Amino acid sequence: MKAPVRVTVTGAAGQISYSLLFRIAAGDLLGKDQPVILQLLEITPALKALQGVAMELDDCAFPLLAGIVTTDDPNVAFKDTDYALLVGARPRGPGMERKDLLSANAAIFSVQGKAINDHASRNIKVLVVGNPANTNALIAQRNAPDINPRQFTAMTRLDHNRGLTQLAQKTGKTVNDVKKLIIWGNHSATQYPDVHHATVDGKTATDLIDQAWYEADYIPTVQQRGAAIIAARGASSAASAASAALDHIRTWALGSAEGDWVSMGVYSDGSYGIEKGLIYSFPVVCKNGDWEIVQGLEINEFSRGKMQATEKELQEERDAVKELLPA
Ligand code: NAI
Repeated sequence: MKAPVRVTVTGAAGQISYSLLFRIAAGDLLGKDQPVILQLLEITPALKALQGVAMELDDCAFPLLAGIVTTDDPNVAFKDTDYALLVGARPRGPGMERKDLLSANAAIFSVQGKAINDHASRNIKVLVVGNPANTNALIAQRNAPDINPRQFTAMTRLDHNRGLTQLAQKTGKTVNDVKKLIIWGNHSATQYPDVHHATVDGKTATDLIDQAWYEADYIPTVQQRGAAIIAARGASSAASAASAALDHIRTWALGSAEGDWVSMGVYSDGSYGIEKGLIYSFPVVCKNGDWEIVQGLEINEFSRGKMQATEKELQEERDAVKELLPA
């Protein structure tokens, strides 16, 4: 058996974590031969509920679960950790403006970025799930100057997975047949689900669907899926978000499938003209525990406009928290 790795999850008493933690402990994150120590962070008022979650984890007697730490101290939660899934975030309260939401989260993610910088493994892989995920990832990254900025990522895998299923269902195929879909930009309603490079069962996706359906149905369905889940369930996506978080880290750590790619919010190096330094969702290939942006894709005018619109939103989010970002 391998030596255990440390996995930190924040917001560990929340609803996403209630799906996520049990699957991590079952081996769905890094494989059935990789023991894990869970380091669980919550705010002080949620520690009692977190204790209940830890009791249930104990009661599952997972063979791969080598230890559980519960804490309200980020310095403890991130100590020596190899993977961090930052799920906890401040939800929008009544009367809260977008800028207030960004600032409240900036305060949380700057503290966590500093704790990662000071205490985590130098090889840590960070995934931000809590919204606004891309900008929260940017804030954490900027507060961790001793860690390579490429190690901070944001989750758009749920959007990617949603896009796969919508395209598979429309074309009468399964998700296994759909390859090379892209989510560009922000994990928000401005995200751009791009099928121009996608194939379905080896055929060019754009030959199988018409532009009117793509523009009027597919794109808004993927962009608004989170709201549709809330309308149907009375609560936001939880099990699907947890599943996408597992997919994101597993692909990053263990590699993407041959002949395909995934979407990840990553540190922009200026590829496709996107401003360097933003956390922007690109198509990436993962190998040897690292990611690389897929290069050389042809971008038509329709796509360019949508990629820039979501870039602009990310620039505005960043500018709204500028005073909280270290230089
Ligand atoms: P939830 O409200 O059930 O749980 C969040 C938990 O975070 C709460 O237990 C809360 O006490 C905790 N928390 C708040 N501030 C914290 C801090 N400073 N440190 C540690 N824990 C803290 O929310 P849920 O449903 O689990 O969602 C979590 C986040 O994930 C939300 O921001 C949601 O918008 C986001 N999300 C992102 C998705 C994506 O695709 N990127 C998809 C679905 C949700």
